[in-house]
Amino acid sequence: MSPFQVQFSSFRYLDLIFRLCYNQRIYVFEEDDMSEIIAVVNQKGGVGKTTTAINVAACLAAAGHRTLLIDADSQGNSSSGLGISKQNLKENFYHFLMHGLPWSQVIMEGPLPDLYLMPANRDLLPVNHELRATANWETHLKKLLEEKLPAGEFNFVIIDSPPNLDTLSINIMAAANRLLIPTLPEYLSLEGLADLVDTYRRIREKINPKLSILGVLITKHLTTHRLSREVTQNLRENMGSLVFETVIPQNVRVAEAPSHCLPIIMYDPKSSGALSYQAVTREILSRCGQKEHELEIK
Ligand SMILES: Nc1ncnc2c1ncn2[C@@H]1O[C@H](COP(=O)(O)OP(=O)(O)OP(=O)(O)O)[C@@H](O)[C@H]1O
Ligand SMILES: [Mg+2]
Repeated sequence: MSPFQVQFSSFRYLDLIFRLCYNQRIYVFEEDDMSEIIAVVNQKGGVGKTTTAINVAACLAAAGHRTLLIDADSQGNSSSGLGISKQNLKENFYHFLMHGLPWSQVIMEGPLPDLYLMPANRDLLPVNHELRATANWETHLKKLLEEKLPAGEFNFVIIDSPPNLDTLSINIMAAANRLLIPTLPEYLSLEGLADLVDTYRRIREKINPKLSILGVLITKHLTTHRLSREVTQNLRENMGSLVFETVIPQNVRVAEAPSHCLPIIMYDPKSSGALSYQAVTREILSRCGQKEHELEIK
């Protein structure tokens, strides 16, 4: 029986996560001329992956970093959230991934000068099955990005992942050099986090030794709710600086922004959501900018 099948009481999961994070240390390396490839991952649905991918990508672009947002989810929420009509998409991430279409033929301009989007739609649905049929399927996306995306073309590549740990999700983690993990401040989310960190550890050991955890981002936080405060405090006690200082509040303006096809910094720049996404982007830049930085876990 895997340790994750054992029923633990709430915060015992944090203990597991703590032990899984490599001798209590996560190393972050920077390589010259390489894009930072940040996968926004969590197999749990509705935790704010797409919202985080869109808004962090937009904040990076607003700060002058050439940024490509890859929508790697058949739901195509990152695409529709930036105003792309999914139904009419003839060429998209699926065709880049499985048919070898050049990246330049698949990307679109976003609502900010340095923001680009590789959109997705239901075409991606058979991708897990199709990827399994390719040689070295785990590193299929990694090889494509290395071979087809010119070094230095983008400062940041942000990948919005689907809510599972299936073949495509493993490909995404194998292609990334950092994981950004949004999580809800709820007990059930902790259980999912333990599974995710376990998968991360296995991918790092077997496929992608350069992979590190950029940080865990608490989303839809409600300061007035005791549960939000308790889970946040316990995550911080157990995962230390792996948890971003910034928390993203539950903010209706953040939820409204996609229906206006805009990131929150354009839809309502003064909202608490916009300010929080700017703050966490500053933390991300700081974590990425360090040459060799040791993030300690308490
Ligand atoms: N900070 C926030 N405040 C209010 N609503 C939010 C916030 N973040 C996300 N939401 C809303 O929560 C819902 C789920 O968010 P999102 O789509 O980003 O999650 P997800 O993890 O990408 O979901 P999936 O797993 O289905 O891909 C959406 O309706 C989104 O608008
Ligand atoms: Mg999503």
